[in-house]
Amino acid sequence: MNILKNSLLLLVLVTAGSCSSKSEGGMDQKASKSTHLNQEVERKIDSLLSLMTLEEKVGQMNQYNGFWDLTGPAPKEGDAAKKYDHLKSGLVGSMLNVTGVEEVRSVQKIAVEETRLGIPLIIGFDVIHGFRTISPIPLAESASWDLEAIKNSAAMAAKEAAASGINWTFAPMVDISRDARWGRVMEGAGEDPYLGSKIAVARVEGFQGSDLASPYTVAACAKHFAGYGFAEGGRDYNTVDVGTSTLYNTILPPFKAAKEAGVRTFMNAFNELNGIPATADRFLQRELLKDQWNFDGFVVSDWGSMIEMQAHGYARDRKHAAELAANAGSDMDMESYAYVNELVDLVKQGKVQESDLDDSVRRILRVKFELGLFEDPYKYLNEEREDAIVGSKEINDAALDMARKSIVLLKNKNNLLPLKRKGQKVALIGPFVSDKTSPLGSWRLAAEDGTAISLAEGMASYEDNTLRVSEGVKLSNGSNSFPMEVKVNSKDRSGFDEAVKVAKEADVVVMALGEDGFQSGEGRSRAELGLPGLQQELLEEVYKVNKNIVLVLHNGRPLAIEWADQHIPAIVEAWQLGTQSGHAIAQVLYGDYNPSGKLPVSFPRSVGQMPLYYNYKNTGRPTLPGEGVVFWSHYIDEENTPLYPFGHGLSYTEFTYDTLKVNKHTDGVQLTLTVKNNGEVAGKEVVQVYIRDHFATVTRPVKELKAFELVSLAPGEERQLQFNLTKNELGYYLNDGSFILEPGDFTVFVGGSSDTVLEETFTIEALDE
Ligand code: BGC
Repeated sequence: MNILKNSLLLLVLVTAGSCSSKSEGGMDQKASKSTHLNQEVERKIDSLLSLMTLEEKVGQMNQYNGFWDLTGPAPKEGDAAKKYDHLKSGLVGSMLNVTGVEEVRSVQKIAVEETRLGIPLIIGFDVIHGFRTISPIPLAESASWDLEAIKNSAAMAAKEAAASGINWTFAPMVDISRDARWGRVMEGAGEDPYLGSKIAVARVEGFQGSDLASPYTVAACAKHFAGYGFAEGGRDYNTVDVGTSTLYNTILPPFKAAKEAGVRTFMNAFNELNGIPATADRFLQRELLKDQWNFDGFVVSDWGSMIEMQAHGYARDRKHAAELAANAGSDMDMESYAYVNELVDLVKQGKVQESDLDDSVRRILRVKFELGLFEDPYKYLNEEREDAIVGSKEINDAALDMARKSIVLLKNKNNLLPLKRKGQKVALIGPFVSDKTSPLGSWRLAAEDGTAISLAEGMASYEDNTLRVSEGVKLSNGSNSFPMEVKVNSKDRSGFDEAVKVAKEADVVVMALGEDGFQSGEGRSRAELGLPGLQQELLEEVYKVNKNIVLVLHNGRPLAIEWADQHIPAIVEAWQLGTQSGHAIAQVLYGDYNPSGKLPVSFPRSVGQMPLYYNYKNTGRPTLPGEGVVFWSHYIDEENTPLYPFGHGLSYTEFTYDTLKVNKHTDGVQLTLTVKNNGEVAGKEVVQVYIRDHFATVTRPVKELKAFELVSLAPGEERQLQFNLTKNELGYYLNDGSFILEPGDFTVFVGGSSDTVLEETFTIEALDE
């Protein structure tokens, strides 16, 4: 019987596609081919839709989390049995958190061989920074400003995940955030919409490759649409209330860039945005994304975000939640059980139009077609490929490359770094020196704990030096896990004495301090941004006996480390760098790799400065009116400036900037400048270009990043660079969402950080359109 059902589907699909070879005279060959393919797919979807019952349509819009141990017997009772039943009756279109060829095959087989129509599942997973092999957290990768490396990192993650049966990642997270208290700042590209947009594109292109149907690529998902990074007070899931100018100019650009790069799915956000939960936001999903932007992929809800609309005070009950979400354009329900239980009734009652369901199902089927799942539902399921790829050298080499590029040298007084290769007694102190788990970060669901190269292991490969290791203090008291709070040690100082003794006898102390891998990420907002637990105390105790300290930070967000900045000579931002962490850090510390990372977020002096970002508005009172006078925009007890600005990062060499020239042309302006490596070693510099539009209909920030280039320069080498700023860079969004370039006065700033070194002014008259 099953064979018969599947042949029915096959027949429909084959016949629908059989008229696809007609020629489309006149069009260029490539465009014509892709139009053909599109038309062919649309015809197949039409045929399939015409076969589907209302229940089966709703089934495609339903996504379940993996719900039973797939190596054991099928569930017989409870919720799992109900879900199992749904799966067998074609009421599930997608599953998440089912991984590995064996597990994925077992659910795919049910969908394909036991349901009436045999429509394959699309299998999703949070491949956020790697799969089994973990790459640096996205914030760290963003610090590389190396778009090719970021793209490659996503491609490697896709390859490993696809080899494990995954078709779809819930990444990239393209939420801009200006608040380090928010735990998910680790998952994005930082505070800037321009950099964030470039990185969004790199990640989408990396995950999806040039052929979605290849067994080495996965569909990507731009999330969380929209505003999630602006949670009030940095508290996760909190209310978001932002003006239209911020929405259009800061929050939406990376989403739009992801769409333009062809991202196949969007995920909506947990938060409400200006009083409307994003999951039921018709303006965002239908008007903007689907109508104005012409997005033809599908939107998945966030986990349970439909049902949570009751708590928001927006939906009366589950049925109402399903109605609101479906009418707003949410195509797939992740784990709310709202669509699967309520949508059929809602259509019968006329509260949701079946044509809207058809639109959602069409979008979901389209992506399944593009992934090649109809051509062969088992195409991602090959044990030999899985064995060859997962954890392979190729993937690990890419993770190491990305990890090195993600490190930011924050401070290096008196060139304490790089360490000497010989004859230096090095002490390694801190809770992260031997930690093989925290460097894997928060989204490490498919990785095994304890699989990162620790700092001690990485340093040990430079065996000419005497290395002494002392943990000094424990950061937490227990074994930490994804859903649970980390229990921070605030009492046990029993390791201090030993650490101080080891420090006393060393020439240089490398201290590895920071946050547990589970102290940033979802649900992990912080109200303090210092070093958690007893680490600050340990740092100060060690400093009393040895001032030659290199502080190596392991963390998922900007930290407020003003004491360290004032006292510690060298500070290295090593984030959570993934599987190859220890090797990458050791190579930087010993100068085998010259650090080139630049901060994608501002580092605060104190938590009270949050939200903190370089592209702020000037206000009406930007400057001190007179010594001691209070009436200007400032704090009475803290500076306005960050500890380390956006774009900051040092190198073992030094770069200088010269001869910035601005030439006007019909499309905007062209800048030329020279950058020179003035040091003794080769290095890479991220040349950054910012603008300020001095007067505008809607006020503009004091500085906005508009271009950058990563350049490698040999010692003494000088390079002339050229940048074109056109309407895209010089314009902005008005409050009605229209994009405009207003003639007027601009300043352009150039340098190796947002604290720029050169500037020029220019005037834009109306440009040729
Ligand atoms: C997160 C999403 C994630 C989803 C599935 C949610 O809690 O907000 O970003 O993709 O879970 O794991």
